[in-house]
Amino acid sequence: MLHLEDNELDQALAAIHLQRAGLATEVLRVETEQAFREALSNDEWDVVLSDFNLPGFTGLRAQQILKDSGKQIPFILVSGEIGEDTAVAAMRNGASDYLLKNNLARLAPAVEHAIAANRDRLARLAADRELAVGRQRLSALAQHLQTSIEMERAAIAREIHDDVGGSLTAIKFDLAWIGRHVEGPEVQQRVASALETLGQALEASQRIMHNLRPAILEQGLVAALQWMAGRFERREGLTCVFRTSRDSMQLPAGVPLLAYRFAQEALTNISKHAQATRVTIDLSLTRGVLSLEVSDNGCGLASGDLDKAKSFGLRGLHERAGTLGGWVDISSSAVGTVLMLSVPVRLRPAGGSHSDTELEPPTFDHDDDHDPSAWGTL
Ligand SMILES: Nc1ncnc2c1ncn2[C@@H]1O[C@H](COP(=O)(O)OP(=O)(O)OP(=O)(O)O)[C@@H](O)[C@H]1O
Ligand SMILES: [Mg+2]
Repeated sequence: MLHLEDNELDQALAAIHLQRAGLATEVLRVETEQAFREALSNDEWDVVLSDFNLPGFTGLRAQQILKDSGKQIPFILVSGEIGEDTAVAAMRNGASDYLLKNNLARLAPAVEHAIAANRDRLARLAADRELAVGRQRLSALAQHLQTSIEMERAAIAREIHDDVGGSLTAIKFDLAWIGRHVEGPEVQQRVASALETLGQALEASQRIMHNLRPAILEQGLVAALQWMAGRFERREGLTCVFRTSRDSMQLPAGVPLLAYRFAQEALTNISKHAQATRVTIDLSLTRGVLSLEVSDNGCGLASGDLDKAKSFGLRGLHERAGTLGGWVDISSSAVGTVLMLSVPVRLRPAGGSHSDTELEPPTFDHDDDHDPSAWGTL
């Protein structure tokens, strides 16, 4: 215990009270501000006990010095005459307790309680810190996984395009050549049937590639969302309206794909869970923030829906939005659900790229000859 006390007798009296209560205490008595500062910086203390009136300074000042030092040591003020105002000021400033010198019977329990409470607080702070670090790591890992998935998808799409697509197209030309050079209805029929199967294979590859890497995004986010809304409306047999504040938008790399995946998950959720009849997709870019809102008139989320252990769609969107400094808001009621993505974007200077998308990180962009959206039209 560090005891700030100019009166030796008072210090001895305090020590006796602690001893009687069975507290084995090692005490250092200091009187001056300088000695107090030195003792604070030279040693570890469980508790500071401080008189109020000290030569040249006060207990409140000592408390401030302790606070400024950043050390988490409980501080107990002991004084002969302590006014209510002083006691309140000390407590407000974080003192653990205050005692009158003529009532030292309370000293031992006050010291024990202050030390125990401080230990609990430090343990809680350490646990909170660990939790925060863990959360941060988890979030970084989730973001990394999202990025890796997208890069992996793009790589697979490219391979399908180069290997499968290239071969299928070559076969198509060969079959067409054979068709022109052979005679006999039976062979012709076989060739026609092979060409049809090949057409289906090409279509399937295109579909798979599109799901892996939405080629429609090459035409810009606005066009892609327009197309997505139309397809959703036809497939689900409900009304899906797409509205936008601009016909085209210049967006930084990664943002169009994030917005596209966001809308994709929102629409998938609507078809899986909402039982809606009307869906609205609103895209706007105002004051440097891109907002994409998908709302439905369905049943809304029930309490606990967001905590489902095996549901990752909305959680993934949060993490994903975080990779570009964005965030996701969800509001839901009995009349439907609104899912909103906001991403701060720095606009490119006018006259830049004609497209509003930069679909992939630069490592994937150098290979311009192989545009997966192109071969599908063969
Ligand atoms: N538009 C919606 N209307 C009603 N309920 C919804 C809607 N969107 C999500 N929910 C509820 O919120 C839950 C969590 O959605 P989330 O997308 O995270 O997971 P999921 O769709 O169940 O699974 P997945 O991991 O495949 O996405 C859903 O299970 C559903 O109960
Ligand atoms: Mg989902």
